[in-house]
Amino acid sequence: MSDPFDVPPYHEWETAQPYAMWARARHTCPVVETPGNDWAPLPTFSTTTFADADRVLRDPDTFSASINAEAMAPFMGELMLGLDGEEHRRYRSLVAQAFKRSSIERWKPELVDGVLARLLDELAPQGRGDLVESLTAQFPVQVICGIVGVPLEDHDRFNQWAERINYGPLDPETGMAASAAMVAYLEPLVAARRAEPTGDLLSELVHAEIDGERLSDERLYGFLRLLLPAGAETTYRVFGSALLVLASDARLRDRVDADRRLVQSLVEETLRWETSVTMVSRRATVDTEIDGVAVAAGCPVTVYNGAANRDPARWPDPDSFDLDREPVAHLAFGTGPHQCLGMHLARVELEAGINAVLDRLPDLRLDPDAPLPHIAGYAFRGPATLPALWTPATLRVARSSAAPNSPV
Ligand code: HEM
Repeated sequence: MSDPFDVPPYHEWETAQPYAMWARARHTCPVVETPGNDWAPLPTFSTTTFADADRVLRDPDTFSASINAEAMAPFMGELMLGLDGEEHRRYRSLVAQAFKRSSIERWKPELVDGVLARLLDELAPQGRGDLVESLTAQFPVQVICGIVGVPLEDHDRFNQWAERINYGPLDPETGMAASAAMVAYLEPLVAARRAEPTGDLLSELVHAEIDGERLSDERLYGFLRLLLPAGAETTYRVFGSALLVLASDARLRDRVDADRRLVQSLVEETLRWETSVTMVSRRATVDTEIDGVAVAAGCPVTVYNGAANRDPARWPDPDSFDLDREPVAHLAFGTGPHQCLGMHLARVELEAGINAVLDRLPDLRLDPDAPLPHIAGYAFRGPATLPALWTPATLRVARSSAAPNSPV
């Protein structure tokens, strides 16, 4: 089948707008075969419908996740994302307890609400600012550092190592150095929690035991290295997209503000409409087919879960943001055995973040004097900036207590 994909070169991925191309492919050729090249000799198959994405992700025997470890293992260590079958199940069970909804609720008041309050105390009186720079890019990183037990003064350092590890395949020397530096930093924290658990995630991880088995050091550090890229990069982008929706539409903003039960709908519709992670990878283990297209053993398969989330066979008028949609499961967090381990944390953070913004940044709107922000990206999507205005709390109090004709 011919290739209706015109995948942008890597250096354009940050600014790409791929939804129209994915829609065309879904319509004309839902499973796209891209021929191999010198660098990757086998053809790659890309899926664009919900049904195909769901099928591939729920069939780990035919579509292995090992491909996820190929590029990142040298920098991240043994990756849960790259394991299959019983090995993956055992590794995941050791860390899963800490990410259950009930465990996450424990962190909400102190950590999630605490981080938001600190950031918004600084931002709220200013009345204007870039919400990506001052809020969304800070919040999930600080929550994860808090969960792991990294002290506040080291957050920037920790985040910088995570970024360098992430770019390891492009700059191996820097990636390896950052990977080693992060482990050297974590070793004393791990030793301290082994000796005396403090109730944080790290304490739980070093003492977790399933069927007499504990996390090896390699897996423990592999997991800790994965947490920031998996949990912070992803959540901050969706938070930015949800705030962009709110700031762009005063009627919708006021409706959600007046009925906070709608915050959950806002989060789920943002995850469907503009997930931050648009694609996940697998490799065929045997000769197989997807939607009638033959896929040979060993071929990479790219599941475009972003495209699946806008499949008109599942959502009417899928390109529009609609707060009143019937809730139907989307694929923002994937599905099957690798479904996002942090999805409860992400949802708690997003709901708390939106509620806090509605409480602390009243009349939130786009800054008309700044360039119009927009959501962009190929593999990861979100707004790069979000210049906004709001009414500082002091002004609001002054206005509501002033005489009716007062100019305040
Ligand atoms: C809106 C935010 C998030 C999105 C859109 C997202 C998306 C995803 C997706 C699509 C996968 C599946 C990957 C695959 O099948 O290959 C995944 C897996 C994973 N996510 Fe998330 N994620 C988010 C937040 C988080 C958070 C907050 C954490 C942790 C703190 C986290 C940790 C993980 C881990 C550890 C995995 C691997 C699970 C496994 O291999 O069994 N994610 N995520």
